[in-house]
Amino acid sequence: MKDKKDDDAFKEKVARYGTAIVNHLSILVKLTGIHGSINEAMVNAASRLLSDLAPFLDERGELSIKMVEGSFFVEDVRVKTSLSDVGNVEFLAGEFQKRKIGVLTFRAPLQSDDLIYLAYSVKGGVEASEIQSLLESKLTKGISIGGPLFFEKKDSVDMSDTRAVATKLYTMGLYAVKEIDSSARTGKLINIRKVKRVIHAIVDNILKDENVILGFTTLKNFENYHYNHMINTAILSIALGKRIRLPKYQLSSLGIAAVFHDIGKTEIPLSILNKPSGFNPKELELVMRHPVEGVKALVRAKDLSDISIISMLVSFEHHLNYDNTGYPELSGKRTPNIFSRIIGIADCYDALTSGKIYERVAYTPESALKAMYEKSGRSFDPVLTRVFINMLAGNSPGSQ
Ligand SMILES: [Fe+2]
Ligand SMILES: [Fe+2]
Repeated sequence: MKDKKDDDAFKEKVARYGTAIVNHLSILVKLTGIHGSINEAMVNAASRLLSDLAPFLDERGELSIKMVEGSFFVEDVRVKTSLSDVGNVEFLAGEFQKRKIGVLTFRAPLQSDDLIYLAYSVKGGVEASEIQSLLESKLTKGISIGGPLFFEKKDSVDMSDTRAVATKLYTMGLYAVKEIDSSARTGKLINIRKVKRVIHAIVDNILKDENVILGFTTLKNFENYHYNHMINTAILSIALGKRIRLPKYQLSSLGIAAVFHDIGKTEIPLSILNKPSGFNPKELELVMRHPVEGVKALVRAKDLSDISIISMLVSFEHHLNYDNTGYPELSGKRTPNIFSRIIGIADCYDALTSGKIYERVAYTPESALKAMYEKSGRSFDPVLTRVFINMLAGNSPGSQ
């Protein structure tokens, strides 16, 4: 009897809060289309949604939203729509329908970052299963997505939909870099060809519309950092290369070299790489060997193409600073190659905003750019740093 009473009280609560949940989710997804990167409005929308969900997650551990023919159901209770909510409900229903999403389940523990990533994935996702793998790539276990059977199945991506293509490419990129990492760790031959294919497609996507794929680089996952970092550094480098008008074939080489810049880290156990705190002196010595270990790993790949050679150079130089400080220690002076200087900037920005260097606290994009600006001319090429800052601050390429 008590169970039924509890159940009724739960359903009553769902009826009361269901509208807010759908509204706030809709607003969050909408915001991803307006802003290229996470800003205060998105963080606020995500925390509003999280507090809508929190009482249900505390009580039941999970909560599902279903969409059936344009109507939303939270835990099988139909969400009532008032006139002021129509726009939001219709928008979200449209996104769900386009992406073939039928069920969305939230599970405790859930964080507002998970919700922001969900919003980006829904907005950029091709279909439910793909969004699910994107979420898994960020180790977001608190959310699962299912597609209803009554939507017609479409296997191919509409190539005119830049957003859909960007999502697919980011997922493919993650698969490719994971494969490289595991080949290198298990002593197998690194397959550069697969990376080349993905990077060529990413270059095309960035040349068409860089905003969506750049948006994916702003979403961070500490545990899965190593893989995301390989692909994020490539995307940021290609976007910077585009701003300084590098030709397309060079953008591809730049992206590939960026994917491999930390390949030497495959000599370091993941338990050390993923440590939540700083390294001890012995670990630091091991980590600082990765530029040279990277060259060795690329030599072992037995592909002496131009791209491989430039990747070796970038691996060797990406921690050498513009003013000749940094590592590895060299006897003579040398200015790093332009690819190394570009990748060094993208590398540092992604590491800072992921909380992987210095105090291990993630910098906001703004504070990371500020910190890098302060080191411009010493650690980083000053011209490239300015272009990079302008690019992420949303300035047009013509303003350089
Ligand atoms: Fe590195
Ligand atoms: Fe790196």
